[in-house]
Amino acid sequence: MRTDLPQTIRLADYTPFAWQVESVSLTFRLAPTATRVLSEIRFSPREGAQPGAFFLHGEGLRLIACAIDGAAVEPTLTDQGLTCPVPTGPFTFTSEVEINPEANTSLNGLYMSNGMYCSQCEAEGFRRITYYPDRPDVLAPFEVRIEGEAPVLLSNGNPTGSGKGWATWVDPWPKPSYLFALVAGDLVAHSDRFTTSEGRDVALNIWVRPGDEGKCAYAMDALKRSMTWDEEVYGRAYDLDVFNIVAVDDFNMGAMENKGLNIFNSKYVLASPETATDRDFELIEGIIAHEYFHNWTGNRITCRDWFQLCLKEGLTVYRDQQFSGDMRGHAVNRIDNVLALRARQFREDAGPLAHPVRPESYIEINNFYTATVYEKGAELIGMLRALVGDEGYAKALDLYFTRHDGEAATIEDWLKVFEDATGEDLTQFARWYSQAGTPTVTASTQFDEGVFSLTLKQHTAPTPGQPDKEPQVIPVAVGLLDSNGNEAVPTQVLNLNKTEQTFDFKGFINEPTPSILRGFSAPVVLEIEQSTETRAFLLANDTDPFNRWEAGRQLTRQTLIEALDGAPPRPELAAGLGRVLSDESLDPAFRALVLSLPGIDDIAQSLYDAGRTPDPTAIYIARKGVAQSLAAALEQPLGQAYEAMQTPGPYQPTAQDAGKRALRGAALGFLSHLDAGARAAELFAASANMTETTTALAQLIAQGTGAAQISAFAADWSHDRLVMDKWFALQTSACPPEQAAETARNLTEHPDFDWKNPNRFRSVFGGLMANTAGFHDATGDAYTLLADWLIKLDPVNPQTTARMTTAFETWRRYDADRQGMMKEALERIKATKGLSRDTSEMVNRLLA
Ligand code: PHE
Ligand code: ZN
Repeated sequence: MRTDLPQTIRLADYTPFAWQVESVSLTFRLAPTATRVLSEIRFSPREGAQPGAFFLHGEGLRLIACAIDGAAVEPTLTDQGLTCPVPTGPFTFTSEVEINPEANTSLNGLYMSNGMYCSQCEAEGFRRITYYPDRPDVLAPFEVRIEGEAPVLLSNGNPTGSGKGWATWVDPWPKPSYLFALVAGDLVAHSDRFTTSEGRDVALNIWVRPGDEGKCAYAMDALKRSMTWDEEVYGRAYDLDVFNIVAVDDFNMGAMENKGLNIFNSKYVLASPETATDRDFELIEGIIAHEYFHNWTGNRITCRDWFQLCLKEGLTVYRDQQFSGDMRGHAVNRIDNVLALRARQFREDAGPLAHPVRPESYIEINNFYTATVYEKGAELIGMLRALVGDEGYAKALDLYFTRHDGEAATIEDWLKVFEDATGEDLTQFARWYSQAGTPTVTASTQFDEGVFSLTLKQHTAPTPGQPDKEPQVIPVAVGLLDSNGNEAVPTQVLNLNKTEQTFDFKGFINEPTPSILRGFSAPVVLEIEQSTETRAFLLANDTDPFNRWEAGRQLTRQTLIEALDGAPPRPELAAGLGRVLSDESLDPAFRALVLSLPGIDDIAQSLYDAGRTPDPTAIYIARKGVAQSLAAALEQPLGQAYEAMQTPGPYQPTAQDAGKRALRGAALGFLSHLDAGARAAELFAASANMTETTTALAQLIAQGTGAAQISAFAADWSHDRLVMDKWFALQTSACPPEQAAETARNLTEHPDFDWKNPNRFRSVFGGLMANTAGFHDATGDAYTLLADWLIKLDPVNPQTTARMTTAFETWRRYDADRQGMMKEALERIKATKGLSRDTSEMVNRLLA
């Protein structure tokens, strides 16, 4: 019976499961094409629940036998699960099923990667392993026995025994099935130990393929720092005797927080100076922390249903950002996070895929692991904290952990904790969770008889399904500067909660300059009429590092838009950037960020917001022209910075050295416009670390002069999968736009283009998407190529396919020709026979 016609799941329809699972015992008899899974599950009626029909999820399982209290039953099977009559009291359900890990290319459920068994169960993968109430609000203790030939057999919790060909594990902490994990293979461990603040001695292992054990030290160090940080900052200690991390090459996402057995995309674990860039090290640190922090925010307290995904993800992203800020510096970290938020989440909020941080319906939950749920979800935590203060936040979090430990909670529970701990009324704030779209805050000022008035208006444009928006609670951090650049009024948080409000500041002789939305205190678009002089003044003087950077950003954005209309860059820009570039009191990483020009996608959205139709090719040309003229104006200080920012001695992945390399790379980017890549070629030849190698290679590729270096790089690194991913990605992302589609097409014919590996597929096509002018080249070749490959990938890996359809999410911004071609590409994907539920939901939303 086929029942998997697209079904919309709604938050409003939530009903609890009528049974409690007292315990789960699983036995795995591993075999690549025929693994047997035996289960023994103790159910008891849940108090007060209305027992409906007994239903267990199960997909792609071959049922061998099942029984209730030892007596065989013949359940009714559908392709989504089974139902059968059950006793009114407690009972034991046992089953044996057969699954085929080797045939599982979706990387969801139990699958194989390079001969190793591994699992991915979030969100709904456990139902591909055995029959079970596969929903996050069913928590149970698990016992697992693994039988197999592999030398290493891992599951959640603590190891309780092992012998030749078997191992047993017990996880004492009740958990939902999405946190289940199993790994079996020929693995080696990089091991260490950690003693928790509660005195627990924990064995730490990072499991990798033989040969990779020398690339785990940084991840291990990041893990130990994360464990200490969570004890110190949140008072949360680890709660098992072992913490295992496994690196796998075939993985749809970044990593997964399975209890006691985190599984990572190998690219977020393995690192050495020769093979990993500064950015890789930073990501490893952040993702190791993120998954570790989930042990409390996600695992000990989980989500009632998948609509509450932001409960664990928004909070855990917030926590990992706090951690990274503590490790690497808050100003630069905040700017990086805002850049990513604007590039991904604002873009999502502005298009057909816009959805609330807590969505109200979905067809395929995997399509909602989005920048909105994660990154905007984290911004909401930051705003809550700004509203209740640091002390209120600490109290609320303590209450959250004590009140909800061991439970599956909701956003209502989360907000109630803040209300109870601080006395604050968060009724209006809750709109942030239900209302999609990025609010625009328009600021205007007046100065009259010594009173400086700031008027703030808010407006949120309609999003799919939400034509009318209510005003939000927006914390707007504001400071005022006097004409010497001194702080006349230090930062204070204005609480904008109506459509329009005016805030007065009294007692001025001269008109102050406002610095608004300091630290990016809310995820909004700020609009303010500001002269070039004011922006230059803020770039030179703002005491808030975020707004100082933002002022420079506004100036460069304005310059790029004016350049499109043929205007030469304003002299204030080169002067302002030059001053920052040479200011040795400023962190090099910060200077690098000030020097980086907004990308083509950013400018395209700005133009679209201003009612214009962006032409990505024209923006590319204008941007190159501005870069060239800035390079010419600043040649001398750029050359100086390029020399001064060398990091002699052995490579160190510290924030400090990375910052120097970032500034050096930014300088190189400008200078390459003047020397036709000569410096880049020199750097490439001399480089002994992957950061400088890829920085140099990207410049050469962009200049169209990198053929020899592209070959040399491949010759050096063809044995290293992760490094070759960079080789693929650099070519499609950095090449001149008119060559992008052809470059991508040629790379798909390369013998190492293993398209079933998500990292490799994303290298080529993620790189193509990131090459905005190349992807939107007027021929439409890139649209066609991507659509062809998405159609090919869909039956193999629906999750990755669906995710990559977001390449088309901006289609309505562009001219009729481009719109027509993108629409056609989407229509063609949509018309594909047997298209997955994942991808069909995405294309339907994109076209709606
Ligand atoms: N829960 C994971 C994280 O954010 C992400 C993930 C989702 C991984 C779904 C795999 C599948 O840490
Ligand atoms: Zn997460």
